[in-house]
Order: sequence, then C-alpha cells, then structure tokens
Amino acid sequence: MSKKLYLITYGCQMNDYDSAKMASVLDASHGYTRTQDADEADLLLLNTCSVREKAQEKVFSELGRWKDWKAAKPDRVIGVGGCVASQEGEAIAKRAPMVDLVFGPQTLHRLPELLDTTRRTHKPAVDISFPEIEKFDRLPEPRAEGVTAFVSIMEGCSKYCTFCVVPYTRGTEVSRPLDDVLTECAQLVDQGVKEINLLGQNVNAYRGPMGKSGELCDLALLITYLARFDGLKRIRYTTSHPAEFTDALIDSFADEPKLASYLHLPVQSGADRILGMMKRGYTRADYLAKIKRIRAARPDISLSSDFIVGFPSESDLDFVETMDLIAEAGFDGAFSFVYSPRPGTPASNLRDNVPPEVKKQRLSLLQNRIRGLDTEFKEALVGSRQTVLVEKIAKKGGGQIAGRTSTNRWINFEAPESLIGQFTDVVVTESQPNSLRGRWVAPTP
Ligand code: SAM
Ligand code: F3S
Repeated sequence: MSKKLYLITYGCQMNDYDSAKMASVLDASHGYTRTQDADEADLLLLNTCSVREKAQEKVFSELGRWKDWKAAKPDRVIGVGGCVASQEGEAIAKRAPMVDLVFGPQTLHRLPELLDTTRRTHKPAVDISFPEIEKFDRLPEPRAEGVTAFVSIMEGCSKYCTFCVVPYTRGTEVSRPLDDVLTECAQLVDQGVKEINLLGQNVNAYRGPMGKSGELCDLALLITYLARFDGLKRIRYTTSHPAEFTDALIDSFADEPKLASYLHLPVQSGADRILGMMKRGYTRADYLAKIKRIRAARPDISLSSDFIVGFPSESDLDFVETMDLIAEAGFDGAFSFVYSPRPGTPASNLRDNVPPEVKKQRLSLLQNRIRGLDTEFKEALVGSRQTVLVEKIAKKGGGQIAGRTSTNRWINFEAPESLIGQFTDVVVTESQPNSLRGRWVAPTP
C-alpha cells in the first residue's frame, strides 16, 4: 500500500505552487500519494505563511492540534515548510518538539533527503538555506492537473518594502533561465494546458538568462515567446510591482491578445507620505499614470490591488487619499489587510500607533467600497458575450458547468460536461455576489 501524505497550505499562490511540487517530489522519490484524511497519513506537512501576524499564529495552533495525532502513531513524520519555517528555523522544532522536518521555500526539493535523515537519526532535520535556483533543476517534470497551470518563473523579492518579510524568508530575486521556463510551459501545453499563470513574488522583475549569450529576457519578451505556443490560449501573471511595470508590459496588453484582461497591481496606499515610508518606489501620481495607460491599451481590463490600512502614523487624511485613489483607479477587486508589524522588518521599529478599532473601521470602509466596485464591474458585464475557459462542474450543480472569463470572473452556465477543458462563448445573464451566471452560446472555433 502506498504511503500517504497529508498537506496543508497557508498563504499565497506561490505556496500553492510549492505545495504541488512537494507532493510531486515525494511521489517521485518515496511513492507518497495525497490524502485528505490526516488519520491515515504517514507524513504530515504544513506549508506556512508569515506575511501577516495572524497567518503565523495559525501555524502554532495547528501544530498544537497535530500533537495528539503524532502521539497516536509516533512513527508518523511531521514537517513544516514555507516562510515561517524559513524565518524560525530550528526554533520551530524547539517550540513544537513533535516536528521532524523544517525546510524553507528554496529547499523543498530536498524533502526526500531530509525525510531519510530524520528517519535514520530520529532527530529533526532542518534545511532553510537559499540554494538559489537549484530547486527547479531538481524537481520532477510538471504534471498537468486540468487545463490551467501555474509556472513559477522567479523566486524571492529584492524590493524590501519596509513592512514585508518576504525578502528575508524567500530571499532576493532570482529568475529561472528562459529555456527552463519555456520547457516547463511546453511540457504542460503538451499535456493539454490551455491557460498558464506565470508566478513570482515580483513577477515583473523577471530577468531570465537567455542561453549562453548573457542577455536577459524580461516578462514582456517572455510573454511574446509563450504566445507563439499554438495550444496555449491564455496567459496571466501575478504579482506585479508598480515601480517595475514597464512600457513594454503596458504595450503587451495592446499587442498580445492571448494576454488575459486582468491585472493585479498592489498599490498598498494612496498617500505619498505613507508610500514613501513603505519604500514602495512610486508616488500616487506615478501609479495612476500607469493605470491610465494600461486602460488605454486594454479598455475592458479588470484591475485589482493590495492595500494595507493602519500603517504606522497613517492619518484620517492619508486614508481618505487611499479611498480617493480607489475611485480614481477604478479597481474592481482587492486584497486588503490591517498592518501587522513583522519581526526583522524596518517598519517594526516604528510605533504601531493606529488604534486597532481605527484600523478595523478603515478596513471595513475600504472593503465595502471594493465590494461595490466589484458589483458594478460584474453588472456592466451583463448582456456581454464572454469567451470562457471551462474548468469544472459548477459547485451549484443543476447541470451547470463553471469557467473563468478573461477578466478572471467565475461564470456558471448550463451546458454539456464535455465542454470541460474547452473554450466556449457565454452571454452573461446575471451578476451574483461571487460569480456570474450565463447562457451558453456556442463553442469558439
Ligand atoms: N509582491 C507584492 C507587491 O508588489 O506588493 C506583494 C506580496 S506580499 C506577500 C502580499 C501582500 O501582503 C502585500 O501586497 C501586502 O498588502 C500584504 N502585507 C505584506 N506585509 C504585510 C504586513 N506586515 N501587514 C499587513 N499586510 C502585509
Ligand atoms: Fe513584499 Fe514589497 Fe516584495 S510587499 S514581496 S517586499 S514588493
């Protein structure tokens, strides 16, 4: 009987991607198959996130629950990966002694060796080093699961925003060579993938070495190469940094029809004073000027962003500037967070002086505003014809299938299940809180 892996993931899409790679590396080396039932698992892994305080706290409360699970069957192995592991290292095994493995985002490919070491020595095996891009060279070939896939093209971040732990937990920016990225994408397309989402903490910082020439390929050029793959019909990327959002990337929205009409461009705040304190490297005016040009290049684009409210010293006026910027940019989606000081970051030395109730109130105002804009965006789509990549049977059942529009909205509609995996056209009939409803029109040739 094959050994079972139970794997929980917190945090961003990079972590989802890394978790899929952990599962595939353990399957290839030790024959582990995934289970959703912790009771039958031989190996239990927690892929963690430390971007915000809450995410970090969750790790130790989850591990607390796993104590009994380990006590019931002591030869089970427990591992902690991801950014909390990277930040805390051996301290995790000290604070939670049932932990056998501690590995960072850059050492997940070494999981098989770490597993063998802990089994042999009966001691925790810890590796949170940054062996740069070695990770990708040591991973098994990608296996497509469905018609959409993520491909990580770079790791880490060198922006050092004053509030953020990512440069410390994931290391500085390192790009994968162009040939490696193209090969992985080609392998996925050969397996039927039609939409690829290029991933990076700072995906538009991509500068992949091209062959032996020493020249570097940026994200805009990578998109033009990928667009030449016949079977690949849609390209997305996330997450971009506004300061590095180049003219070439803006132009690609005008020039490359395979690029989806969706962009996530975190702004964090609308007040120049706060942006300066965050060390974001752009002003409100710079940001809005880029949005204007992006909209000119792709008028139907869906734009989303990230916001932090309650950064140290953020005044009512600063917050009003953020709300104004939301109206001016016309975002139709956002992830928004209350500021939490992260250990080791420059901002953690500032007094966290916005009262918690003010932070909460600002967050709720901001989220209500964004929800309203999302509704407006979806309502404006009613009556339009959208090309949809059908991904699955709709959760709502009733003979409906579900796919995503180019603008990244889920749409449910009645049509044969045989359309799953295909592009088809749908007329939007209704906007609902988290999705759209539509009427199937015809397959797109
Ligand atoms: N690369 C992205 C960018 O260009 O800004 C950000 C990636 S970060 C992992 C994801 C989001 O978490 C950030 O955009 C920010 O809004 C939020 N975040 C990061 N550190 C935070 C902190 N200390 N407190 C609250 N939110 C935080
Ligand atoms: Fe974090 Fe800023 Fe990089 S938010 S991931 S340091 S761009």
